[in-house]
Amino acid sequence: MSRRDIGVGLLGLGTVGSAVAKILLNKSNKLAEQIGAPLVLKKVLERDVNKARLDCFASLAMTDRIEEVTTDPEVDIVIEVIGGEHPALEYIKQAISNGKHVVTANKEVIAKHGYELLSSAKEHNLQLRYEASVGSGIPLISPFQQDLAANDISTIYAILNGTTNYILTQMSQEGWDFSTALKQAQKLGYAEANPANDIEGMDAAYKLAILSTLAFHTRVDPQDIYCEGISRLQASDFRYAKEFGYAIKLLAIAKRDNGTIEVRVHPAFIPEDSQLAKVDGVYNAIQVEGDLAGDLVFSGQGAGASQAASAIVADALIIARDICHGANYVPELQLNQELPIKPMRDIKTRYYFRMNVADRPSVLTQISRVLGDNSISISAVIQKESDLAAQTAVLVIMTHPAEEKAVQKALEEVKQLAVVNEVSNFIRVEG
Ligand code: NDP
Ligand code: HSE
Repeated sequence: MSRRDIGVGLLGLGTVGSAVAKILLNKSNKLAEQIGAPLVLKKVLERDVNKARLDCFASLAMTDRIEEVTTDPEVDIVIEVIGGEHPALEYIKQAISNGKHVVTANKEVIAKHGYELLSSAKEHNLQLRYEASVGSGIPLISPFQQDLAANDISTIYAILNGTTNYILTQMSQEGWDFSTALKQAQKLGYAEANPANDIEGMDAAYKLAILSTLAFHTRVDPQDIYCEGISRLQASDFRYAKEFGYAIKLLAIAKRDNGTIEVRVHPAFIPEDSQLAKVDGVYNAIQVEGDLAGDLVFSGQGAGASQAASAIVADALIIARDICHGANYVPELQLNQELPIKPMRDIKTRYYFRMNVADRPSVLTQISRVLGDNSISISAVIQKESDLAAQTAVLVIMTHPAEEKAVQKALEEVKQLAVVNEVSNFIRVEG
């Protein structure tokens, strides 16, 4: 079958949308060769239609009315890169009900509504592809759906957010403060329109929901995932982590455990010499354990316009090639397991505590007694930064593995001790 061209409607001409538009314009010959027909940008939706101020976009047909894209008979594939849950969700539904294939980079929409959207696309015999939604340009959705299909996946340990990994790297290696690092991540186009989703861990939780759903064939909703961001971390935590031989990363963890699954996102101490500890800046890494493939690590730049556009255009190319050759492989979400989520209070790991205490004898004895009464055993303790005038000191404690519920209870009791001024931070220790 030969066609005149395959039409694309682009929703959003921001950081990622501009990169997608540039590829479609600048690499049109290469793409046409791979597809067998030209892939042509027919219409672009933007809130502000004058946004196409770059000279290279002067020829684009801009609109601020979604119907002009979703009902355009020349549009075969709608690419959604406006971000956020609404109205992106409604726009994707509208595209599908008008018979358009969809490509999206929107992890929030896929994590919350992926199952319904994929089912609806399948009913309409349409494709919905979302490779850029996790890890940006790192191939993950396809490998999880296809290349690892024969495996029983037992664990995922991952760094899934480029913005926070960039911030943590700049804070720990360059001594930057948090807000300088965040501003730079925004300038570089890594952060979400609302960076709170990055900082508070929600962006990583959306991505973990998508990956663990694919890995464990069970539905994992973002609200099932325990989620803690990086805003509680202070410069001293990085110093102490280093002294103990650890790096601090925002980790996304998914584990199969005795018929349940553990899914959580939080900052963690990880050994300095581990693979994930060496993943710096905007890079992401996803370590997966499969029963057949063994230990795999996927790594690359996890945010950035051209990385996301690389995955988006590849998704569009797959669909365009199918249209061109009269094929239509609609990837299915196979949910044949119903694995309950393990409550956070039941997880078991090691912990780091940083406390401000009175600098006098018996303080450590009192704290150790509370921890011991809660079956928490100390593996290391150091006293730092004594303030002679205030007669206070900073106490840093590392524990052996303990249950989260015991730790939370013990910390409440420790806070009640007259010799403890403040429990300043606690961080889980992995690996
Ligand atoms: P931007 O905020 O830079 O771009 C979004 C664009 O869409 C803006 O131009 C915005 O206009 C426009 N827009 C938003 N809402 C509407 C609407 N209702 N109608 C019309 N236009 C609208 O975001 P990004 O390009 O960074 O991200 C886009 C998507 O890609 C998100 O889902 C993000 O999570 C995902 N992604 C981003 C990556 C990155 O590194 N940036 C990497 C991988 C995925 P206005 O400015 O007026 O709001
Ligand atoms: N804000 C996201 C991040 C973009 O920093 O990882 C890529 O999904």
